[in-house]
Formats: sequence, C-alpha cells, structure tokens
Amino acid sequence: RGSKCILSGIQPTGIPHLGNYIGAIKKWVDLQDAGTHETILLSIVDLHAITVPQEREIIRENIVGMAACLLACGVNPSKTILFQQSTISQHTELAWILSCLCTMPRLECLPQWKEKSQKYQEPGVGLFIYPILQAADILLYKATEVPVGEDQVHHLELARHLAKAFNRKYGVIFPRPVEIIGEVNRIKSLRDPNSKMSKSEANPMGRIELTDSSDEIYEKIKKSVTDFTPHISYDSDQRPGVSNLIQIHAALTGQSCEQIVQESAGLDKVAYKSRLAEIVNETLAPIKTETARLLQDKHYISTVMEQGRDKANMIASKTYSQVKQLVGF
Ligand code: ADP
Ligand code: NA
Repeated sequence: RGSKCILSGIQPTGIPHLGNYIGAIKKWVDLQDAGTHETILLSIVDLHAITVPQEREIIRENIVGMAACLLACGVNPSKTILFQQSTISQHTELAWILSCLCTMPRLECLPQWKEKSQKYQEPGVGLFIYPILQAADILLYKATEVPVGEDQVHHLELARHLAKAFNRKYGVIFPRPVEIIGEVNRIKSLRDPNSKMSKSEANPMGRIELTDSSDEIYEKIKKSVTDFTPHISYDSDQRPGVSNLIQIHAALTGQSCEQIVQESAGLDKVAYKSRLAEIVNETLAPIKTETARLLQDKHYISTVMEQGRDKANMIASKTYSQVKQLVGF
C-alpha cells in the first residue's frame, strides 16, 4: 500500500486536560478534517494503561469517558477509526514476535524507561517492554506517520528499528514510520509554570480538565502562579507564568502571542486572567455539554467503538496473517 496512514494512541488514565487538548486532541481533529490521509486510526490504549496499577472500575469508566470526550472534541468516527486497543488481539501477538527481534540493552537505554523505572522499587516487565507494544500498534496498521511528543521520539526510532529487523529477517512488509512532531507548544502547569501541565501532577489546581465547571476554570486561572509585574507581556524565560497563559490563549483563539499582548495592553493581570478564563470557558462549554450528553448515551458510544474495532480488525488481521506466513506459523 502506498497510501498514507496515520495512527495515534491515547491512554485512558483520566479526564484529558487543556494541555492534552491543545497539544494532541485539537491537532488530531485538524489533521482528520484536513483529509490528507487515506487511513487514520486513533486508539484508546488500555493495554498501555495497565503498565502501572489500575482499578477495574476506574479504567472501565475512563475508557468510556475518553471515548465520549474525544467524540465531543470533534473526533469524527466516519473519518477516524476510533477503537479500543485491547479489542484487537493482534497488538499483543505482533508485540511478541517483535520482542523476539529486540535486545534487552536496546530497551534499557530508552530514556523513558530510565525515568519511569526510577519511580518503582520493582518495576514491572510491562513497563520495560511497552515500547515494543507501541511498535506493534504502529506496524500492525502499516502506519506511515505517527504524531508524538518529543518524549516519544526514541520509541519511534525503536519502531523503525523493529520494522527493519522484521523486513530483513522475514520479508519486506512494513513501511518506515516517521514521527510528526507538532510545533513545540507545551502547556505548563498553572501551579508550576516550569513543568508541563500533566495528569500526573499531584495538585489538581495545576491543570484544567475538559469537564471542569466554569467556576473551577475561573478559580484555577485566577490562582495561577505568575509574578509581580502587573502588566501583560510575553517572555517565556523571565515570565513563564504569564507567558503560559498567553500561549493557552493563542492556541485557543488562533491569534499570535504578540497580537494578544497588544490587545491586552490596557489590562492588568487580574483582568487578563478573567478574560482568559472567559475564553477557556467558551471553548470548553460545548465540549462539556456534548461529553455529558454522550455519557447518557452509552449505546451510541459502544456502537461507535464496535464499528471502530471492526474497521481496525480488517487491517490488523490482514497484516498479521502476512506476518504469520512469513514467520512460518
Ligand atoms: P499526561 O502527561 O497528562 O499524562 P500524556 O503523556 O498521556 O499526558 O499525553 C497525551 C498527549 O497529550 C500526548 O500527545 C502529549 O504530547 C500531549 N500532552 C500532554 N501534556 C501536554 C502539555 N502539557 N502540553 C501539550 N501537550 C501535551
Ligand atoms: Na504522561
């Protein structure tokens, strides 16, 4: 297949925050609507989520919640194949075959492993080998492009290495997947503008979740950490807090940071914060309403996910039967 196929995964580990929306979901929807790719797949990667401890009821709820949220953000199931990773068994089957082509030292030197394994006294094997599962996620659909954050570049390298290793040993079937790295647009925590907004930050005041009420949005932005300079200016080194707010503003309205600074010349920080809260609130209000509506219609969500599974399965089973044939099964 010479066609372009793009794939991305998102972990069902909680409600997406504004950083996820700006850095990943919104970009995905723009890409989907641009119609430049023949096949586009978005996977809710539950198998990746269990590399760290998860509660049954919570992960179950998060899978449905993530699906609802993605649909509410504009993921269109007639353009994007939206599916739950664990419903396609070939992900783990292909991962096994790839793991037999991968050495331990190659995984040991991955920066994510070095960082994540530090957090546990006895890190699990899943946490060690999940980059191989990621490679399988990509290769199973012969994806040619994978949107990722900078932190995932090494994993894409691994996927390319494994594609090449398989092609060399068994026969050429996998295209070389390349990363698409969006312009660096890291939204920072509202409590600590030197670290990124993240689900894993302990203090929930640092992030705006897509389902936060308007009161919570105002409260979080009002209390966001800035500095002692009253006016609004953009300087990400000297004024990381204010600059982060301007970046959020720019991402949501499509304006440049300079434009925003100009139009906010008459405002002090207090007034600017409430202006921004208004904008965030306007963006999230329809998403919240739609997420809530979809969560009342679980039947629709499961229909969408079943259709996604069937479409994903058509591609996955075709690739995997080629793989088996070449391996000699
Ligand atoms: P988190 O750190 O909140 O757990 P993930 O690692 O699950 O987020 O990331 C999901 C997607 O959202 C990735 O594509 C990632 O690049 C993007 N993303 C996460 N945090 C941010 C952020 N603060 N700013 C911009 N994009 C982000
Ligand atoms: Na993360």
